[in-house]
Amino acid sequence: MLSVYTRGDFPGLGSFQSYLNTAVVGLVPRTVRDKGLRSLLEFINNPLGKSQEAIDVYNRIRTVFSTLIGLGNKDNIVITNGTTDCIVSIAASLIINHYRDHREPVIIGVTKQEFPGVVYALRSLCESLNAYCNKVVEVGGSVEWEEEASAFLDRKGRLLVASSIQWTTGYKGDLGDILKSRRDDSYIILDTAQHFGQSSVPIYMRHADAACGTSIKWLLMPVASLGIAYINDRLIEEIAPVVYGLSNLEIDNIEKYYIDPGKNPLHDNLLLKRDATRFLPVGKPSIHAMELFLESLNYLVSISPMAVEDHIMGLRKILVEMLEDINLREHLEGYSYRSKSGIILVETGLKTLKEVELVKRLMSRGIAVSARGQSGIHGIRVSIHLYNNEKDLYKFVDELKIFLRSSL
Ligand SMILES: Cc1ncc(COP(=O)(O)O)c(C=O)c1O
Repeated sequence: MLSVYTRGDFPGLGSFQSYLNTAVVGLVPRTVRDKGLRSLLEFINNPLGKSQEAIDVYNRIRTVFSTLIGLGNKDNIVITNGTTDCIVSIAASLIINHYRDHREPVIIGVTKQEFPGVVYALRSLCESLNAYCNKVVEVGGSVEWEEEASAFLDRKGRLLVASSIQWTTGYKGDLGDILKSRRDDSYIILDTAQHFGQSSVPIYMRHADAACGTSIKWLLMPVASLGIAYINDRLIEEIAPVVYGLSNLEIDNIEKYYIDPGKNPLHDNLLLKRDATRFLPVGKPSIHAMELFLESLNYLVSISPMAVEDHIMGLRKILVEMLEDINLREHLEGYSYRSKSGIILVETGLKTLKEVELVKRLMSRGIAVSARGQSGIHGIRVSIHLYNNEKDLYKFVDELKIFLRSSL
């Protein structure tokens, strides 16, 4: 187990008896905290020099992130404004640029456990582009969604949005064989907000058109709205530059650009440029946020992504055994190993409001977990990361036992 070595790397752990809430906000390694302080000072002392480092830091993030998720190169990695923004920007771009000439308006499919903020944003987008977007529909069962998603894309569905790891149950979907047969004019965007940083990903990449995640939570960044995404070649060709980083304004001849009245952003080709080095015209992420992010990615790579995943899955098994000893189950009991992740939804048998009370009680004892639910499924969500150990799990289960006994 890793934690013997890594616990000391997380100054924030000291405020908790047991921190099992990564899925809300990840703890920050010491190296990231220190980098944040240094980066601010460097900027204050040398603003121009520091801001010129932005492109270099941006490209290093892309490289290190590709290593982390096991991709061969950085070309398809972009920094975004966060998960929701990335998904909605891509959907908007596809609807406006790609689907507007189609005979029928687009139907967007979302899975039942998709994050509510993403669903609301897509519905709002669809309503505002109602000439080209018909509606947003639910696809799949209460947890699993793959088979229905395949049928949806086969029939009328053009765009599917699904969480590769669900924020409620922790279910890890499998794009595998089913979706290989989807029609060419359909697209799949994965929400990887709960995925990047805790579990291996390349299998998803091969079948999805995009995977949009966030730098916080499992990637151990402090809250700063930076996201990160994979976008495949086909989608890069399709969408306009609504996403950070894949901008188009690489000015090859600056003199001509300044002098020629016909050479301006209105007339330039708007398609994304794969390795553009300019962020214009979509703004650029803060150099501080990027420096922190690079540091957190470096930290995770130095530990090794496989070691992190093994550690998380090892502890998850121990937790499930502890739960069994007190006759409790996790929501994914009976599912295969590969459908499981570092998010475990514990079924307590309590009503939702009681679960909220339980979370407060646990927090008052320094134990951080959360009460989560959606569409008929609810429980106590435990999120295990690399700094956790068996003792964290014992503390949680012990307090849980006491609460359940007192609620009888
Ligand atoms: C599965 C999932 N998707 C999206 C989000 C929202 O992410 P962001 O703030 O990066 O848009 C969250 C946040 O918790 C999430 O869990």
